[in-house]
Amino acid sequence: MIKRVLGAILAKAGYAVIKNQGRHMQDGLFTVHNDHFRDDPAFRAAYKRGVLASMGVDPAFEWRVHVALWAASTAIQAPGDFVECGVNAGFISSAIMHHLRWESINRRFLLIDTFNGPVLQQFSDAEVEQGRLKLAEASLRSGAYVTDMVRVSRNFSEWPNAVVVPGEVPQVLSKLDVGAVAFLHIDMNCAFPERAAREHFWERISPRGIVLRDDYAYFGHEEQAEEMDKAAVALGTKILSLPTGQGLIVKH
Ligand SMILES: C[S@@+](CC[C@H](N)C(=O)[O-])C[C@H]1O[C@@H](n2cnc3c(N)ncnc32)[C@H](O)[C@@H]1O
Repeated sequence: MIKRVLGAILAKAGYAVIKNQGRHMQDGLFTVHNDHFRDDPAFRAAYKRGVLASMGVDPAFEWRVHVALWAASTAIQAPGDFVECGVNAGFISSAIMHHLRWESINRRFLLIDTFNGPVLQQFSDAEVEQGRLKLAEASLRSGAYVTDMVRVSRNFSEWPNAVVVPGEVPQVLSKLDVGAVAFLHIDMNCAFPERAAREHFWERISPRGIVLRDDYAYFGHEEQAEEMDKAAVALGTKILSLPTGQGLIVKH
């Protein structure tokens, strides 16, 4: 009875009542809030291009891609190149480049990856303890990491200013010729290279540039989150923790 009355009061006040709604349940996220971005044709087209990069495999990351598209579209106001560390098949980067019509933008999108999966020796004891190494090994065995460079090059060939950089972070970073960076997406699922990427690029991020970290609020990735929090405090900024698991920083 009380529940029903409370429900009626909440509904009258404009709140969705969970029992009846449940609008969005995907990628570890459940919300009754409005996911109308999914109906936007521009979003749909970008998402479709991401799925194409994954050869038709849809990881059901819609809200995550929505965040990445917003971040990239906002970061384009700042000067500099775009960089992704951890590219795999190019799902998110392809969606971004499609959305921004990257071929018409006079900047580079550097796409850095071993294209051979994670570097197993880079996992710390704590990450091994949390099962991150085992998971990486299983993903390597199942072919979840793309190693076919012909496939990678073909996927990005529609954007002449997309620069595929095969190599291990951190070693590969010193070989790059990069000035200002407007947008940095870090998605390597391992704390050591993610810290190295953040340290390497932070000074190069332009004011109002954006750093998006994919695994910030993921369970099992606590070491990455701790490192990011400490770094953010030291850098005088704060990370926006998103329910998609991503972490977002706007550089002042
Ligand atoms: C989760 S996947 C990236 C997913 C990608 N952002 C997408 O949109 O689908 C993680 C990637 O990080 C790469 N990686 C992991 N450790 C790395 C390192 N030390 N240097 C370069 N790439 C690395 C792996 O090869 C893998 O492709």
